[in-house]
Amino acid sequence: MISMIAAIGQNNELGKDNKLIWHLKGDMQSFKNLTMHKKIVMGANTYRSLPQRLENREYLVLSKSIKEIPYGTLYHDFTKLLNYLKTLDEEVMVIGGSKLYEAFLPYAERLYLTEIKAESPADAYFPNFAKTNYKRRVLVKNQENGISYEIVLYEKKGELK
Ligand SMILES: NC(=O)c1ccc[n+]([C@@H]2O[C@H](COP(=O)([O-])OP(=O)(O)OC[C@H]3O[C@@H](n4cnc5c(N)ncnc54)[C@H](OP(=O)(O)O)[C@@H]3O)[C@@H](O)[C@H]2O)c1
Repeated sequence: MISMIAAIGQNNELGKDNKLIWHLKGDMQSFKNLTMHKKIVMGANTYRSLPQRLENREYLVLSKSIKEIPYGTLYHDFTKLLNYLKTLDEEVMVIGGSKLYEAFLPYAERLYLTEIKAESPADAYFPNFAKTNYKRRVLVKNQENGISYEIVLYEKKGELK
């Protein structure tokens, strides 16, 4: 099963200058819990943006320009990666960024979105999606430093692509 996980602002803001915008402890902890011991799928920019290796997770990186990575598996072709993911009997987490969320959206059964009630300048956004096609369940409601957020699980209704 393909799932996606992201932290987004009120206008779907994801990142700026290839950096994260949002730094909320509760969101980071939830990201860790939800991705631990799983395969994590990411695009070249997100791979480059990570300040350190995310331990105990298996990297699958999509890029045409990166020639090798010290750990994990590199894919140059989206369809090859997608077909591989479809053979797996486990939850795989797409962790970004914008390009990857867009590409995997039609195939993702679950979206774990930290919906942050704030706005920020950004140059990377989560794609718009038809919320009526998903069942929405709030997993966590919280507030940190005056910023409130909800961690929401969207589960796709009906057939996947
Ligand atoms: N808020 C959050 O939860 C969150 C999570 C993750 C990332 N982010 C933010 O999102 C931003 C990065 O997003 P992004 O859209 O710029 O980058 P991205 O999705 O991480 O990576 C894009 C790159 O992936 C490769 N790629 C994408 N589609 C491909 C395909 N079909 N075939 C082969 N390679 C493909 C390309 O790499 P090549 O150019 O090497 O071919 C492309 O340039 C950053 O600001 C980051 O901090 C936010």
